[in-house]
Amino acid sequence: MSRKKIVAGNWKMNTSFSEAADLVEQILAYDTDANVTKIFFPPFPYLKNVSDTLAVKTGYYSGAQNCSEYEHGAFTGEVSASMISSVGCKFVLIGHSERRNYFKETNAQLVSKIQQVIKNNLVPVFCVGELLAERKSNNHFETVNHQLKEVLRHFTKEEVNNFILAYEPVWAIGTGETASPLQAQEMHSNIRTCVKELFKEQVASHIPILYGGSCNEKNAAELFSCEDVDGGLIGGASLKADSFCKIINSF
Ligand code: 13P
Repeated sequence: MSRKKIVAGNWKMNTSFSEAADLVEQILAYDTDANVTKIFFPPFPYLKNVSDTLAVKTGYYSGAQNCSEYEHGAFTGEVSASMISSVGCKFVLIGHSERRNYFKETNAQLVSKIQQVIKNNLVPVFCVGELLAERKSNNHFETVNHQLKEVLRHFTKEEVNNFILAYEPVWAIGTGETASPLQAQEMHSNIRTCVKELFKEQVASHIPILYGGSCNEKNAAELFSCEDVDGGLIGGASLKADSFCKIINSF
């Protein structure tokens, strides 16, 4: 079965307003593979501008790096899914390891956030991944399966059929150490099996699973050639137009 190919850039807390605008303009000027869906996750204050700029070209979308678990109200500093939707975004990153580890987001909060995302017709890009200690103690499959089950079990087959998943081993994020194609493939295959157990083969074979963690223009082709790797969630290398476009063209 042919699945969607996706390359997404998570800019995290980087770029100024003008750098963000320049980066998008530079990327749009490149000749990139039309079969690849491109998603940009800039910081919140730039979402409207980035969304408007991307809207001129097909296959380019914007998304938010996080959203509130609440609908609206007295939650100072929070940004709701409906606000994100109203500025033209289509996607929201949920459960990134930096949110889980630094901001102590729990599975229950991730479920509430995804409920808000779905309610506002946005697509969650749900992230999972193990810590170095969990891999070293050979608990990586168990950790990732637990992260998947504790959240996905709250949703229907029809809802999950619209999700995107991202596997980001924490030890590979921003470290320059990438999962080998073998490590990526065996985990992606494990994730697909877990989705199959929770739902049906049809959902498991349809859902895109992205790899993230020091993915760059040098290793992307090898990673994307793995059977169960449907693209990448790129951090550092998404901040340079040339690198990001080379990654997009790595299938
Ligand atoms: P790096 O590509 O910088 O390792 O970051 C990966 C990531 O966390 C994307 O969400």
